[in-house]
Amino acid sequence: MQTVLVTGAAGGIGSRLRKLLKGVYPNLRWSDVKVPDDLAPDETFVKADLAVMSEVETIVQGVQGIVHLGGFSVEGPWDTILNANIVGCYNLFEAARRAKVERIVFASSNHAVGFYPRHRTIGIDAPVRPDSRYGVSKAFGEALAQFYAYKHGLRVACLRIGNVADAPVDKRRLSIWLAPADLVQLIRIGLEHPDIRCEIFYGASGSARAWWDNSSAFRFGYRPSGYAENHAAAALAAEAKIPPDSIAEWYQGGTYCSDEFDGGMERSQN
Ligand SMILES: NC(=O)c1ccc[n+]([C@@H]2O[C@H](COP(=O)([O-])OP(=O)(O)OC[C@H]3O[C@@H](n4cnc5c(N)ncnc54)[C@H](O)[C@@H]3O)[C@@H](O)[C@H]2O)c1
Repeated sequence: MQTVLVTGAAGGIGSRLRKLLKGVYPNLRWSDVKVPDDLAPDETFVKADLAVMSEVETIVQGVQGIVHLGGFSVEGPWDTILNANIVGCYNLFEAARRAKVERIVFASSNHAVGFYPRHRTIGIDAPVRPDSRYGVSKAFGEALAQFYAYKHGLRVACLRIGNVADAPVDKRRLSIWLAPADLVQLIRIGLEHPDIRCEIFYGASGSARAWWDNSSAFRFGYRPSGYAENHAAAALAAEAKIPPDSIAEWYQGGTYCSDEFDGGMERSQN
C-alpha cells in the first residue's frame, strides 16, 4: 500500500486516524466534504462530496487502498442518508473499480444488525437486521462490498463498528466498545492481509459482555488490546443517569431501535 485514501477525514474517527495512521503508509490522502479544522501543513487533503461522482473519481486516482469513513454517521432523514450513504457509497465503490483500486475498508456499523436482542450472540452469518435508515445504508454498503468483490475482484473488509471512543461510556458500550488502536489493527488487516476477499469483522475490543462472535476477525489475526470491563465501574455509574427505555435496553442497537418504534415487542423477541 503506497497510497491510501481516507474519506471522512474531518469526522470523529477520521481526526483520530490522521494521528494514528501517520507513518503507517507512505502516502495518505485525506478527503471530506468539509475541510478539517486542524489540518496540518504536512497532510494531503482533497475536498470532495461523495454524492458527486466526478469529485469521487478525482480522489481515488492513483490510490491502492481506501478507508471509507465518509457519510452521515447517525440516523437521519431519508434524503440525507440517500445522498451521503447510498449514492455516496456507490460512487466510492464504482470509482474505485474504474481506477483499479485494490482494496477498500468500509466503515459499516453495528446498526446494520441492531434489531438482534441482547441475549443473542450473533456472528457474521446472521442476516442483516438494520435498526434505522442509517443501518439500512450500512447493509447496502456491505452488499456493494460483496458485489464489487465477487464481480470485480476488489478486496474488501467491512467493519461493523461498535463505538469508537477512549473508553466505553455506558452499559451498552461495554458490549460494543472499540478502542482506537484496535480500529487501526482492523484497518491494517483489511488493507494488508493477503487472504482478504470480502470479509465482515465486528469492530469491537475485548469484552466480557460481547454480543458478537468475532471469530472471523480472530482468524485474520485480530488480537484486541482494549478490554471494556476495565472501564465497567465508570460506565455503569454513567448508566444509572440514563432514563429507562425498555425497547432500547432489549435490542443491541439501543435507542436506534426505540426511536420511531411502533413494531410491537411481542412480534420481535428473538
Ligand atoms: N463513531 C463510531 O463509533 C462509529 C460507529 C459505527 C460506525 N461508524 C461509521 O464510521 C464512519 C466515521 O464515523 P465518525 O464517527 O467519524 O462520523 P462523523 O460524522 O464524525 O464523520 C463523518 C464525516 O463524513 C463526512 N461526510 C458526510 N457526508 C459527506 C459527503 N457527502 N461527502 C464527503 N464527506 C461527507 C462528514 O463531513 C464527516 O466529517 C461513518 O461512516 C460512521 O457511520 C462510526
